[in-house]
Amino acid sequence: MRLVMIGSGYVGLVSGACFADFGHDVICVDIVEEKIKALKQGIIPIFEPGLSEIVQTNMNSGRLSFSMDLASAVSEADVVFVAVGTPSRRGDGHADLAYVYAAAEEIARAAKGYTVVVTKSTVPVGTGDEVERIVRRVNPDADIDVVSNPEFLREGAAIADFKRPDRIVLGTSSERATEVMRAVYRPLYLNEAPILVCERRTSELIKYAGNAFLAMKITFINEIADLCEKVGADVQKVAKGIGLDKRIGDKFLHAGPGYGGSCFPKDTLALVKTAQDHDMSVSLIEATVSFNDKRKRAMARKVVAACDGSVRDKKIAILGLTFKPNTDDMREAPSLSIIQALQDNGAIVHAFDPEGMGAAKHYLNDVVYGESPYDIAEGADALVIVTEWDAFRALDLPRLKSVMHSAAIVDLRNIYNRVEMQKAGFRYYGVGS
Ligand code: UDX
Repeated sequence: MRLVMIGSGYVGLVSGACFADFGHDVICVDIVEEKIKALKQGIIPIFEPGLSEIVQTNMNSGRLSFSMDLASAVSEADVVFVAVGTPSRRGDGHADLAYVYAAAEEIARAAKGYTVVVTKSTVPVGTGDEVERIVRRVNPDADIDVVSNPEFLREGAAIADFKRPDRIVLGTSSERATEVMRAVYRPLYLNEAPILVCERRTSELIKYAGNAFLAMKITFINEIADLCEKVGADVQKVAKGIGLDKRIGDKFLHAGPGYGGSCFPKDTLALVKTAQDHDMSVSLIEATVSFNDKRKRAMARKVVAACDGSVRDKKIAILGLTFKPNTDDMREAPSLSIIQALQDNGAIVHAFDPEGMGAAKHYLNDVVYGESPYDIAEGADALVIVTEWDAFRALDLPRLKSVMHSAAIVDLRNIYNRVEMQKAGFRYYGVGS
């Protein structure tokens, strides 16, 4: 089939490359000229394990190409995916749909023959209806169905998530569009990925409800972690104890510095706004958002406590900047609030991250970037593990201790064991124990 991705960002690029890998002909379109130029040369603008190889293989086979010419790509397409950004609108937290609606207009003008237009970007309930209105207004004769098909890709594991999804959600009432979409995903349901077909609005809400639930689950265990610290319990054992209950499940129960990233903060906020627009409040999600916001800065207080009550003029070494490992994405990363709070308290912050330092420079001021964990630990008063990169899981502890000024480790991801750390001569501060 001939597929077009409008938007060659994270979602568009991963989805486009994977669809090409399944044997479809895919054109990824973007309005940013440098991005398309780079992609044509096989240069990938984001760090995602395995993506570069898939892009290269499928470009070589001729199934994947890149273009700025939306109209000509769309005119040949069976299915057009809208995978443009939907950032939080400045000021009110609503998802900004300007890019989605602009794409809808252009698609309506360019489409020829029966075309399925699919919103893959995370869009609030009712956006598909508006896209459909735009299409009918711009081109009343267009033979177009509008389908919602949310993505559930985790950064750092996006290729695996795409190829072996827990489920595929299709929001449409059109049987014709459903058949086309089943054909698009046929290679996947040969792998027995369940396909859920539902109304478009339901599909749009599934995405928000899913992300809000996961954000709430993380927030729940973070709140329990705080309680564990007060009552002398161990949150990791509590998580294990409740996670073995199949109704609860063991995923997303890792206590930490709060969730970040491009999805959870934005999507929880958008869900709160959607509810307000319908004259109700989703109080569990509101509590989640507010707890998580406060938590990031609260983590800085742990560091202050580990430094005997003050970080003024002390050197703090931050290990890990990205919102999670295996990505270079700094959006809403807990490190940003933690570092800002430490600097507000007079700390001198040094940092190291395997992939995120380039992006971090756009977000942070006055941070000294190092070349390795040992480099930034040199003369440090405390080492803070903010992101659980694999490379940080087996640090050379004697070496670390020998270079630090004061042997304090604040492990915000609980990747080390307190007893082992204490044996190695460190003062160790984890989360929730
Ligand atoms: C998420 C959803 O998982 C995905 O389905 C959706 O489509 C996009 O948003 P992503 O943002 O890439 O994916 O990351 P995810 O792995 O879900 O982690 C989100 C944040 O939660 C990270 O900051 C992570 O560190 C944090 N987290 C996750 C925890 O603090 N504890 C956990 O147990 C799990």
